[in-house]
Amino acid sequence: MIKELDPIARVLMGPGPSDVHKRVLKALSTPLIGHLDPQFIKIMDEVMEMTRQIFQTSNQVTSVISATGSAGMETCFVNLLEPGDSAIVCVNGVFGNRMCDIVERCGAQLIRVDAPWGKPIDPDQLRLALKGCKPKLVAIVHAETSTGVLQPLTEISKLVHEADALFVVDTVTSLAGTDVRVDEWGIDAVYSGTQKCISAPPGLSPVSFSPRAVEVMDNRKSKVQSWYLDMSMIRKYWAGAKRAYHHTGPISMIYAIHEALRLVLEEGLQARFERHMHNHLVLKEGFESMGFEFLVAPEFRLPMLNTIKIPDGVDDTYVRNKLLNEYNIEIGAGLGEFAGKVWRIGLMGESCTQNNIDLLLTALKNILS
Ligand SMILES: Cc1ncc(COP(=O)(O)O)c(C=O)c1O
Repeated sequence: MIKELDPIARVLMGPGPSDVHKRVLKALSTPLIGHLDPQFIKIMDEVMEMTRQIFQTSNQVTSVISATGSAGMETCFVNLLEPGDSAIVCVNGVFGNRMCDIVERCGAQLIRVDAPWGKPIDPDQLRLALKGCKPKLVAIVHAETSTGVLQPLTEISKLVHEADALFVVDTVTSLAGTDVRVDEWGIDAVYSGTQKCISAPPGLSPVSFSPRAVEVMDNRKSKVQSWYLDMSMIRKYWAGAKRAYHHTGPISMIYAIHEALRLVLEEGLQARFERHMHNHLVLKEGFESMGFEFLVAPEFRLPMLNTIKIPDGVDDTYVRNKLLNEYNIEIGAGLGEFAGKVWRIGLMGESCTQNNIDLLLTALKNILS
């Protein structure tokens, strides 16, 4: 007989998932009700309303996809692109590359604007690319989790709108940890995930579409190639009392995000952003006092994902294994060209505490000495 699961508790300081508040864990254990029960419809409506607040948008079409952040990414592209369209994707890490793969699977023509990993996209590169084409959309990652770069969006958004294209933004890591102003920054399609700064388990993807994006979706010539992610049906599924069955809602996860969003709004967006920034600076001081260096220039650093160079002579795997096995602390490894060269240290949502920083710094000092 296989034993009941009983994993050792860990301190989650990697690139996600983050720790989950006990109120969210309690919400997860709430008894199920039917997904068409009027009580559940009210809960979905409240999730939609709170999702609008954290995206800082009045977009009517704002909801939650019943799958992880990658499904939110796919939802944006499969609904906005049709075969033969063209799309610019800005790439400076793993998740920009993932967007490119999806764009090509939609049968669209892909135009890449690349920047070196660890650096943001330069608006001039995009300006140049826009001279040579007329894309239907331009997509970019706000917080590139593979490198720790925070991408400034206002100038890029202006260029995208001057070119009369739709602006698609990945906020999987940034949402609820740093400012994401969907309306003010002219973002037409945006997606996120639950397991980073929202601090719910992985499994849902908040999305929002501007009226302009909705018009494009309404005027499609071809059917959306994905049945599950077709927003024309998902919109009806999230349409309050008139709601039409589409799939069986992940009830426990909706309970979880409901409580997690309540916690975010109880703290207040501004206070939450300040907490992430404050703890990032505390972590930075601690690491710098031990002689470590950061990969990313200070003005483009993510507060919730710190990419720290591994000094020569320090064995990446040895240190991460020690942290996990002896101190129960998880941190992230480098990806792609940074594998073995950096650590990615998350300070996301519930994991973003002074206590966690102290635990990590003390453990690292012991291991390295
Ligand atoms: C920036 C970014 N985009 C997309 C994703 C994909 O999200 P998921 O792993 O929840 O599918 C991630 C996950 O780490 C991410 O960091």
